[in-house]
Amino acid sequence: MILPGTGSEGLAKRVASLLHRPVGRVEARSFPDGERYVRILDAVRGPAIVVQTTFPPQHLTELFLLLDAARRAGATTLTAVVPYLAYMRQDRVFQAGEALSAAVIAKSISALCDRVVTVDPHKPEVLKLFTVPSEAVRADGPIAQELKDRKVDVVLAPDAGAFERAASVAKLCGAAVDQLEKTRIDSQTVRMKPKTLDVAGKRVAIVDDIISTGSTMATAVGLLRQAGATTTYVVGVHGLFLANAEERLKKAGVEEILTTDTVQGPYSLVSVAGVLSEALAAKAIKTG
Ligand code: R5P
Repeated sequence: MILPGTGSEGLAKRVASLLHRPVGRVEARSFPDGERYVRILDAVRGPAIVVQTTFPPQHLTELFLLLDAARRAGATTLTAVVPYLAYMRQDRVFQAGEALSAAVIAKSISALCDRVVTVDPHKPEVLKLFTVPSEAVRADGPIAQELKDRKVDVVLAPDAGAFERAASVAKLCGAAVDQLEKTRIDSQTVRMKPKTLDVAGKRVAIVDDIISTGSTMATAVGLLRQAGATTTYVVGVHGLFLANAEERLKKAGVEEILTTDTVQGPYSLVSVAGVLSEALAAKAIKTG
């Protein structure tokens, strides 16, 4: 049975349909003080998969409650599908006295389930922080398909950390790959310079893991326009759109914003349901 959290109802239904599995009925609401309440209305009797994203961060509490409720409702083995894993950018103690947030969240999720599946975490290394088997599926394939349809010539990584993903997407859609060099000044300001940037007269897609405040993407779009790119697409696996990200991107002159449904929003045109269901089905076959 697939059990959807309120953050991932659409994605959970798409995964259930691809896996030919029933969707369990879940009641989820908030108390007047904002605390969440969940109740699973069906008996589970067998393996269960909870699908719940963790952005906005209050969805994290609902994920914890849903996993606990699924176990109590009779789930024999319990998989947490967490399409966007929050808190993973604090994956180190950068300054003395900080919490190691990524480890806290990974351990807390692990305590409530038998397996975790996510999509493109900020860094693959965070998977080691879980104490149950964990894996990440990649959105490269579905993203590449969309970019192929838009006849993109170049896939651009906005920084070194994004290069491997951009190169993989570029290969899958038959485009060239290029990279910018980024220095973050503060949470809403970045500085960038090109490495080569041969984009004059070309259709370019900037591909990154997260669109947060949009400053990375907006700055990159500005550079592309200066360099003569005709059309620019911005593609984030996870679209958070904080502060005035959308406005900033539109002002920068972007042709289209695309994200996946790991965080559901107006730009979630790319679905990761296919890659998630393949990973879930493969494991089901392996374990019989
Ligand atoms: C940074 O390492 C990430 O890969 C993204 O580039 C970053 O989180 C995007 O943030 P923003 O949209 O605020 O520039």
